[in-house]
Amino acid sequence: MLGRRVQNVYSDPKYYLLGGYLHILIFGLMLVLYIPIFSHVHVSAGRCKSKNISGKYQHCGIHSDGVHNLDCFGKYRLYNKCTWEPGKRGSNKSYTLILQQPDKRHCDVSYNIEGFVKQIRVFSHQNLTVEVFEISETTNCTKAVFRGSPKSLARCDPPKDVLLSRPPGVLQVNVSWHPDDVKYISKFSVRYKVLGSHSWKKSVESQYPNAVRLEKLNSSLVYVVQIQCVTSDKCSQCPWSKNYTVPSELKTQPIIISSKYTDIKEITGRRLFSITWKFPVKELCDGYHVTIWKESGEPPQDQMTTSEPEIKLVLSYSAYQLNIRAFNNVSFSSAVTHIIPQYEDTNNSGDRRLNVTVHNSTAFTISWRTDLITMYVCYSVEWMEKGHSAHYRSFFEDSDSNKTLSSLSEHLEPFKRYSVTLHLRTNKNTCNMKYINNSESTYGTTEFYYIEGSPVSSPANISFHNVTVNSAVLQWSNIQEEDLRGFLLGYIIHYTEYHYRETSTEHSKNQSFETK
Ligand SMILES: *[C@@H]1O[C@H](CO)[C@@H](O)[C@H](O)[C@H]1NC(C)=O
Ligand SMILES: *[C@@H]1O[C@H](CO)[C@@H](O)[C@H](O)[C@H]1NC(C)=O
Ligand SMILES: *[C@@H]1O[C@H](CO)[C@@H](O)[C@H](O)[C@H]1NC(C)=O
Ligand SMILES: *[C@@H]1O[C@H](CO)[C@@H](O)[C@H](O)[C@H]1NC(C)=O
Ligand SMILES: *[C@@H]1O[C@H](CO)[C@@H](O)[C@H](O)[C@H]1NC(C)=O
Ligand SMILES: *[C@@H]1O[C@H](CO)[C@@H](O)[C@H](O)[C@H]1NC(C)=O
Ligand SMILES: *[C@@H]1O[C@H](CO)[C@@H](O)[C@H](O)[C@H]1NC(C)=O
Ligand SMILES: *[C@@H]1O[C@H](CO)[C@@H](O)[C@H](O)[C@H]1NC(C)=O
Ligand SMILES: *[C@@H]1O[C@H](CO)[C@@H](O)[C@H](O)[C@H]1NC(C)=O
Ligand SMILES: *[C@@H]1O[C@H](CO)[C@@H](O)[C@H](O)[C@H]1NC(C)=O
Ligand SMILES: *[C@@H]1O[C@H](CO)[C@@H](O)[C@H](O)[C@H]1NC(C)=O
Ligand SMILES: *[C@@H]1O[C@H](CO)[C@@H](O)[C@H](O)[C@H]1NC(C)=O
Repeated sequence: MLGRRVQNVYSDPKYYLLGGYLHILIFGLMLVLYIPIFSHVHVSAGRCKSKNISGKYQHCGIHSDGVHNLDCFGKYRLYNKCTWEPGKRGSNKSYTLILQQPDKRHCDVSYNIEGFVKQIRVFSHQNLTVEVFEISETTNCTKAVFRGSPKSLARCDPPKDVLLSRPPGVLQVNVSWHPDDVKYISKFSVRYKVLGSHSWKKSVESQYPNAVRLEKLNSSLVYVVQIQCVTSDKCSQCPWSKNYTVPSELKTQPIIISSKYTDIKEITGRRLFSITWKFPVKELCDGYHVTIWKESGEPPQDQMTTSEPEIKLVLSYSAYQLNIRAFNNVSFSSAVTHIIPQYEDTNNSGDRRLNVTVHNSTAFTISWRTDLITMYVCYSVEWMEKGHSAHYRSFFEDSDSNKTLSSLSEHLEPFKRYSVTLHLRTNKNTCNMKYINNSESTYGTTEFYYIEGSPVSSPANISFHNVTVNSAVLQWSNIQEEDLRGFLLGYIIHYTEYHYRETSTEHSKNQSFETK
């Protein structure tokens, strides 16, 4: 709508604006841009030639079956328009719109409008009357009337986007407004009711233009919400938005039914992992968010969305963690966590495909078979002390079949057994993984000590069985791994033969194992 200062320009007939033109008025520093949205070729418009134009349509009456619901509104300083709905009867209808602002002796008429909307020009601060006449070939003419002041026309639309979320007990309403209105809206109000109930609960007014929290809602109920801006000088009309349905909160977590791994025949070092789950109140949820990451913490975290309660992934032998949450369009359930342990590949252990040389507490070299180098350039090493979380490092290597990892932030400790795994990555663009699914295979695992020591405990529970004249079966229990402090090479058995007449001979026997 036009500001007061533009009036002078407007009262000069030669500046009068008609639909279908782009017109720029520059007055002082103010630039007002008019872009009429409707340009009807057949519409003729102009100032009312006769002082008594209404007389011409005197025979047209207000009729319940005729043109109705005439409404005029606009955007502050941008445009105003009137809309109406057609009468029920008659064919080949057209409309005439007459706008009058008596105090300004202003009268404007548009003939032969074919649609149900027309842009209008009004002087500020003057009451206006708009009449729309429906003229048809087969029925009598009818009319609709609108009266108002220009100020009362300024309408700010309901929010353009509405984002609803339901943290426990709360409804968070975030809105964004039409670009033409946004600068005039400083707060808004929300009314809500339980779905199916007739009356709205008291509406809540926001403190800020874009967000409000409704507290103390019953999380198991479904609500209907409407939003409007709070009226102000520049927004004298604030219509309610459409209904937004807010489903109830998801409170329980999904329940895991089963999970399994199967080897993939074609690709060594990978396994097919599948997991299925259920959600106790299935009809409340729209789907599931599954998040998976390596237990070592190496990025990325894969986020997947599925509508079915199951997922299949191709993984390396590494350890992973998986989170599953149910969601609907306003809330998430809490997550159920599943741990996928590292897979111990018994086929490839002990084949010496992977060797480790420790240099000091912050550096070791890992080496692998040269025939791999032609196929892979991206690798990842994971190492961990038994029972602790893994450390990782990914690297690019295209010439040597070994890699020295130095400046380890976690120092290697003496007498502790470490396991180290080498993974191969097919992606060459960056050796960091982009996805978890189907992007890594395991080459091999081996174990090492930074410094080995001697066992700190001795075999226990020694017992004899099946003693004969010249043999006996000796049994003992294993030494706990943390007491070994190095790879077990074997056992030494000391025994004494007692002879008749109390002589004795001492013996000792080495029983060795394959060393690791
Ligand atoms: C306007 O026209 C109507 C009908 O034609 C007539 O009754 C009325 O007196 C006229 N008014 C003026 C001010 O001419
Ligand atoms: C509709 O009316 C216009 C004049 O108002 C006329 O030119 C046109 O032929 C009419 N069309 C029909 C389908 O009657
Ligand atoms: C405009 O109309 C309102 C009521 O609709 C009235 O109170 C007011 O006095 C009118 N203003 C002028 C300038 O006629
Ligand atoms: C049109 O108006 C006249 C006079 O008021 C009336 O007799 C006639 O029935 C009306 N025609 C229709 C189609 O409504
Ligand atoms: C909603 O707005 C609040 C306050 O501005 C903000 O903290 C929150 O992150 C927003 N929520 C969403 C889903 O955008
Ligand atoms: C929430 O609504 C449910 C279903 O109508 C009802 O059983 C429950 O008592 C309500 N809880 C509270 C705290 O009002
Ligand atoms: C909103 O829902 C109520 C019933 O809950 C209904 O009466 C009303 O017409 C709906 N409003 C809109 C704009 O759909
Ligand atoms: C949420 O989803 C339900 C159906 O799943 C729908 O009826 C409702 O309109 C949606 N609500 C919002 C705020 O998107
Ligand atoms: C550990 O060994 C690496 C590789 O041989 C070497 O670069 C580094 O300086 C050594 N660090 C210490 C503290 O000795
Ligand atoms: C690892 O060391 C063993 C024993 O020294 C050797 O036989 C094997 O070839 C080595 N493997 C690699 C990949 O270097
Ligand atoms: C790594 O490989 C290169 C080239 O094959 C070799 O010269 C070097 O000695 C190897 N380093 C270790 C620590 O095995
Ligand atoms: C003792 O001998 C019997 C028969 O030869 C055999 O079945 C059993 O396994 C032996 N026990 C042990 C502990 O070796």
